[in-house]
Amino acid sequence: MQTNIGKKAAGEKAAGYIKPGMTVGLGTGSTAYYTILRIGELVRDGLDIKAVATSAQSEELAREQGIPLIDFDQVDSIDIDIDGADEADAQLQLIKGGGGALLREKIIAAASKEMVVVIDEQKLVKHLGKFPLPVEVATFAWELTFRQLVAIGAHPVLRMKDNQRFLTDNGNYILDCHYQKIHNAAALHAQLNNVPGVMENGLFLHYATRLIIGAADGSVREI
Ligand code: 5RP
Repeated sequence: MQTNIGKKAAGEKAAGYIKPGMTVGLGTGSTAYYTILRIGELVRDGLDIKAVATSAQSEELAREQGIPLIDFDQVDSIDIDIDGADEADAQLQLIKGGGGALLREKIIAAASKEMVVVIDEQKLVKHLGKFPLPVEVATFAWELTFRQLVAIGAHPVLRMKDNQRFLTDNGNYILDCHYQKIHNAAALHAQLNNVPGVMENGLFLHYATRLIIGAADGSVREI
């Protein structure tokens, strides 16, 4: 993987917010990757934490790094969740799910006291929506769900990978919904999740507590 300096800078900086004894949510994607590597270093240097992962991919990386993982039956609440995003605005509203992990990511974010979001500077936007909004849907009768989404103006496209339908870790499909610009994110969030067959959508409106933005020169700033 080619190093993206902004992602690396933001991802590594976020690990500095982890304190001994914390339960940490591990995000998914190429920015959270750098956070997990840095957490691995800290753990090998003696940092005592426990972690839960937002995807099979991050779980595997955490195991390789020697980060102690716990089962959800041992988790009451998560102290800090560190995750990437596909778009973020200055009000800390996000689009997530480009990597297809949005349902698990939202469950972990909702159970976390803090959510630190790590992005490179190109993902900071004035208005959400240029990035197609991922919507996770049940495979059962997905064509009907698809048509319901067409009817409410979502312009969905079934996500494919290697010429196959992309399947999430939960065995669902992703419909990427093309809006260009989202005007009322809260209303859209409710409207999408009201469609039977929709498991979750990639709008994260009230979860992020801190945004760390990495620039191409390796500097970071925070909102
Ligand atoms: C996965 C996500 C990722 O956080 C998002 O796609 C950003 O990924 P990356 O850091 O690779 O750009 O939401 O579902």
